[in-house]
Amino acid sequence: MEFNTKVIHGGQQHDPSTGAVMPPIYQTSTYAQVSPGDHKGYEYSRTGNPTRTALENALSSIENGRYGLAFASGLASIDAVMKLLEPGDEVISTNDLYGGTFRLFNTIFKKFGIKFHFVGMDDTGNIEKAINKNTKLLWVESPTNPMLNIIDLKKCAEISNRHQLLLVVDNTFATPYLQKPLDMGADIVMHSATKYLGGHSDVVMGALVVKDKELADKLYYIQNASGAVCGPMDSFLVLRGIKTLHVRMQRHCENGSAVAHFLKGHPKVGKVYWPGFEDHPNHIIAKSQMSDFGGMLSFTLKGNKYEDAIKILENLKVFTLAESLGGVESLSGHPASMTHASIPKEEREKTGVTDSLIRLSVGIEAEKDLIDDLESVLEMV
Ligand SMILES: Cc1ncc(COP(=O)(O)O)c(C=O)c1O
Repeated sequence: MEFNTKVIHGGQQHDPSTGAVMPPIYQTSTYAQVSPGDHKGYEYSRTGNPTRTALENALSSIENGRYGLAFASGLASIDAVMKLLEPGDEVISTNDLYGGTFRLFNTIFKKFGIKFHFVGMDDTGNIEKAINKNTKLLWVESPTNPMLNIIDLKKCAEISNRHQLLLVVDNTFATPYLQKPLDMGADIVMHSATKYLGGHSDVVMGALVVKDKELADKLYYIQNASGAVCGPMDSFLVLRGIKTLHVRMQRHCENGSAVAHFLKGHPKVGKVYWPGFEDHPNHIIAKSQMSDFGGMLSFTLKGNKYEDAIKILENLKVFTLAESLGGVESLSGHPASMTHASIPKEEREKTGVTDSLIRLSVGIEAEKDLIDDLESVLEMV
C-alpha cells in the first residue's frame, strides 16, 4: 500500500462482531475468561486492549515497522526505551533536543547509573568521538527541537551498526509522512503522538515502532511491567488523527514554507531556522531524507531582546501562545522560558536557544491570515 492508503487502512479490520468501520472504544479494564487462561486474547487492559491494538497496528504500518506500542505520553515511551539499559551503560544523544527528554535523561536515568553524552549530531564525527566500550544507544531527534537542525540518519545507522548500538529516532517533528527512520536503518522510532499523529491538540500519547521481534518483546515486557499505557479513548483519538495525517501534513508543509519565506524577507527578523532554505546548513541532507520540510520553524529578532519576543507572543491572534505543536491550529512558543526552561541558560544558548528565539508550529489555517497576523505584530517591535 502507498502511505496515503496505509494511514487509513494499514493494520485495520472492520469490527468482526458488528462490521463497525472504526474500532469500538473498548472502555474496559478486564475480560471474561471461560476457564483460567482460556480467553479471547485479552486478559487485562494494561497488558492489552483491542482499541489500543488497532492503534498499535496502525502505528507500525505507517512507520514501515512490524510492531507498534502506544504509551501514556511521549515521555513514557522514552522512559520505556531507557529501561532497556543497565547501570553503567552510556547513551549518546543530540544536544539540541526536546527539554523534557533532556530532563528525563539528566535527572532521572542519570541517578540509576546511566551516563549521557550530549553532542552536536549535525556533525556525525562528534558521535564517533563520544563512543566507548560502554556505549549502548544513540538518541537522535531530526529535525531537532527547536533549532530545526537535520541529522544524517543513514550515517547514524551506519555508525550504530558498526558499533552494535541501538539507534533510536524521535520522529515527532517529521512524522512518517516526511521521513521513515526504520527504512534508513533505525532500530526504534519514537513519537510524541500528542503532536502530528493525534493532530488536534486533544490528547497526550507516546508511541514506539520497531521491526525486530526480540526488541519488540523486550519493549512489550516493559510496557506491561512499568504500566505507562494509554487508555482506549485516547487510542481511538490518535487512530482517528492518523487517518488524516497525510492531508494535514501536506498543508502544514505548504503553510510552513510560506511563513518561513515571509519571515526571511522581513527587516525586523534576524535568523529563520527552516530546513527548506537552500542556505540551511543541513539542507542537502534534509532534501535527501525527507520528502518535504514540515511546518515547524523558529526565528530570532534583530537586537535579540527578550521583551520584543514577549510582545510578539502576547499579541499574535491567529497563532496561540501555548506549549506543544503539530495540531491543526497554529501555535507559538518561547523555547527559552517554556519548552527548554529546564535546560540551563549556558547550555541552551550554546545550541542557539537565545532570548528572542520564537518557535512556530504552523497550522493548517489560511496562509494569508497567518502572514497578516505575523506582519501586524512585527510592526510593534
Ligand atoms: C520532539 C519531542 N519529543 C518528545 C516529546 C514528549 O512528548 P509528550 O509531551 O507527549 O510526553 C515532545 C513534547 O513536546 C517533543 O516535542
